[in-house]
Amino acid sequence: MLVDGKNYEGIWLDEDDPAVVKVINQQKLPFSFEISDLRCVEDAWQAIREMVVRGAPLIGVTGAYGMYLATLEINAYTNVPDHLSNAARYLISSRPTAVNLSLSVNYVLKKLLNNIHSKNLSRIALTAARETAEKEKNLCREIGIHGLKLIEDLSKEKEGEPVNILTHCNAGWLACIDYGTALAPVYFAHDRGIPVHVWVDETRPVNQGARLTAWELGKKGVPYTLIPDNTGGYLMQKGMVDVVIVGSDRTSSTGDVVNKIGTYLKALAAHDTNIPFYAAVPSTSIDMQITDAYSEVIIEERPPEEVTMIKGIEDGEMHQVRICPENTIAANWGFDITPARLVTGLITEKGIIRANSEDIKNLFSD
Ligand code: MRU
Repeated sequence: MLVDGKNYEGIWLDEDDPAVVKVINQQKLPFSFEISDLRCVEDAWQAIREMVVRGAPLIGVTGAYGMYLATLEINAYTNVPDHLSNAARYLISSRPTAVNLSLSVNYVLKKLLNNIHSKNLSRIALTAARETAEKEKNLCREIGIHGLKLIEDLSKEKEGEPVNILTHCNAGWLACIDYGTALAPVYFAHDRGIPVHVWVDETRPVNQGARLTAWELGKKGVPYTLIPDNTGGYLMQKGMVDVVIVGSDRTSSTGDVVNKIGTYLKALAAHDTNIPFYAAVPSTSIDMQITDAYSEVIIEERPPEEVTMIKGIEDGEMHQVRICPENTIAANWGFDITPARLVTGLITEKGIIRANSEDIKNLFSD
């Protein structure tokens, strides 16, 4: 995706120093555009944990690059299989909810363990990490193509009036290497000249919508309006939303969608007002092992400071201020579960399907 005329993806290897992995620091956006260096497994863990990188596909690929960094830590005394398995376990422990993380890390680990006597483990890990990035990118592109059809149809129904899409969190290219999941159809529609307008939920407490989705859409020239998280229901009642499209960190084999906290409330409002609610889900975010998201998915709990404090910019300086009485006890669950019955459909790389085990199994049994 272009940022001020230069093409970026979410993660890449430093051209001048192959011991350094580069990422866009999403903690700093939109206040400043900064690139951070990852030089060891610990750096990759921290970047994921502290949301320097975030979004299910990108944390998966960062984990995969973390495995590459693990191979650079090998020396003559290293028990290589143990070292790599420990690194994989450690990287996966950084955030519990998105399934892409374990998928991508284990992909690289398996390649390495299958070639454990190779003199070129770093090359193998790098190739595998790049494969995970390429895969996530391609899946997003396909999601964009299938989701575009949906927006085209709505645009026809509205006879060319802008299609109003409500989205929650950031499921754009920043979260996904390139294109995005929920935002890929929006970008594709905008590129084809279909008038679209996006209602951007601010997405408290970390404000991924206000900081990241607004920034992405602005860079691309897509019209958007930022709204507080609790506004969507009212807009839906007023007929000001044509479709809700969100991403997913883990979708169960039965079609329950785990996504950023607050997604469920949007789905409830959409259901009540008969507005289609879609989750854009690459197969890398579908967990075929899980049939009951409520008991089987770990919902991340994050530091209370993310709730009690808020970041902003004044006179070019980033500030963090408290927004509640001192010593307030705050709770901070990162994700919620939208039951399949509230989901109109899943926009996947293979097409739009119903959120149920039959459709998911038919398409993704391999
Ligand atoms: O906590 P985050 O910012 O990593 O959460 C991200 C989301 O909830 C996204 O909607 C999800 O990862 C889908 S991204 C393509």
